[in-house]
Amino acid sequence: MKKPEVALVMGSISDLDTMQDAIGILKDFNIPFVAKVLSAHRTPKDLEAFVTAMEQVGVKAFIAGAGGAAALPGVIASFTTVPVCGVPIETKSLKGLDSLLSIVQMPAGIPVATFAIGKAGAKNAALFVLSLLALVSPGLLKKVRRFRKKQARAIKKIKVKA
Ligand code: RP5
Repeated sequence: MKKPEVALVMGSISDLDTMQDAIGILKDFNIPFVAKVLSAHRTPKDLEAFVTAMEQVGVKAFIAGAGGAAALPGVIASFTTVPVCGVPIETKSLKGLDSLLSIVQMPAGIPVATFAIGKAGAKNAALFVLSLLALVSPGLLKKVRRFRKKQARAIKKIKVKA
């Protein structure tokens, strides 16, 4: 197995459906990654051990999805200086606004890059990580640019029947 470049963490297996959109991007671009369910509230000690292990392995970014009182990305960021991308999971009670505010409102000194609620956020978190990795990988940069062009072409092809 190749050394992971990204660690993807979710607070519960119920977050997997949303986080699949990040996983899909990492797979499409052949980025070696580890995916794990760990909770800041339910398994805090295991979370710390995992983050430390991933830092030692040399991951370049964490993508963390959590819902509700979504402490996960912030707690990961408290254990490491590796960049952390937070994905707010949509919730039944507050539609993910709870998750978004929990993740985005970090105290000064411990940053988390926060993305949109739900699948758009998961996809963009992975694309953001690709852009980070592409800074030192011309091959990956080419692929990211190709992805953007393909996306633009698909939009330009749309014909609206009015
Ligand atoms: C959070 O609580 C998880 O990230 C999940 O979004 C939410 C609910 O978890 P479950 O009760 O579905 O396990 O920690």
